[in-house]
Amino acid sequence: MKNITIAIDGFSSTGKSTVAKQIAKHLGYVYVDSGAMYRAVTYYAMTHGFINTNNFNVDGLIANLDDITISFKFNPTLGFAEVYLNNINIEKDIRTLEVSKFVSRVAEISEVRQKLVEQQQQMGNSGGVVMDGRDIGTVVFPDAELKLFMTASAETRAKRRYAELLERGERVTYQDVLKNVEERDYIDTNREDSPLIKAKDAIQIDNSNMSLQEQFDEILKLVNRTLENSEKL
Ligand code: CDP
Ligand code: CDP
Repeated sequence: MKNITIAIDGFSSTGKSTVAKQIAKHLGYVYVDSGAMYRAVTYYAMTHGFINTNNFNVDGLIANLDDITISFKFNPTLGFAEVYLNNINIEKDIRTLEVSKFVSRVAEISEVRQKLVEQQQQMGNSGGVVMDGRDIGTVVFPDAELKLFMTASAETRAKRRYAELLERGERVTYQDVLKNVEERDYIDTNREDSPLIKAKDAIQIDNSNMSLQEQFDEILKLVNRTLENSEKL
């Protein structure tokens, strides 16, 4: 059967990575979390003195981009690939609210996007990939056979992310998480380079009232239809 490319874009905490992992596992495809790559660059900037609460040295970060190597290694226990920065596993470090507070500002920088998009395109150049992010169907894989655009209300998404952070032991408030979700929505949709928009040929799914199972079932139907159609070509 032909290996297709599946692009899943949308707002924060809409369940993109959860469903992308499930679909990749089901099909035996590679899953790539493009957001983890923007988070890795942000984590690098925070731990190398380019970002702190009062200052963001954009030029310094740009000048050091060649010092950043991002890789993924499959963890069989977890069933997905974890992200590494310069060969150090940073999977847990990048999921904090602290990193979320800066990541959209880092993702506005064209030099950062150029570097990461190039790597993403290489990772998916032979198909058989499910990638989630903000610009996958519009910029990274404009010819993807299946494009999804996931939405849900900001409150629903903030509740989901809040529960997740609490479970990981982070001390955060719901209000802080909601504020971050709304701020990132704003920056991600309004930036000049590769803003978050629905590709014309993407299928929009609002999962505010869908369980994880319902969401998987609905998306699997679309995947199977796309696979059948691509066989006929
Ligand atoms: O998981 P969550 O939806 O919170 O975010 P993420 O997918 O980890 O992405 C974190 C941030 O990276 C987003 O808010 C965007 O600012 C940026 N991003 C991007 O600009 N383009 C992508 N393809 C993926 C993420
Ligand atoms: O990748 P993205 O930021 O879009 O979202 P995620 O990390 O896959 O999902 C964020 C949280 O929402 C996870 O804890 C999911 O289990 C939860 N979720 C949910 O409860 N119901 C959905 N329909 C989608 C996501």
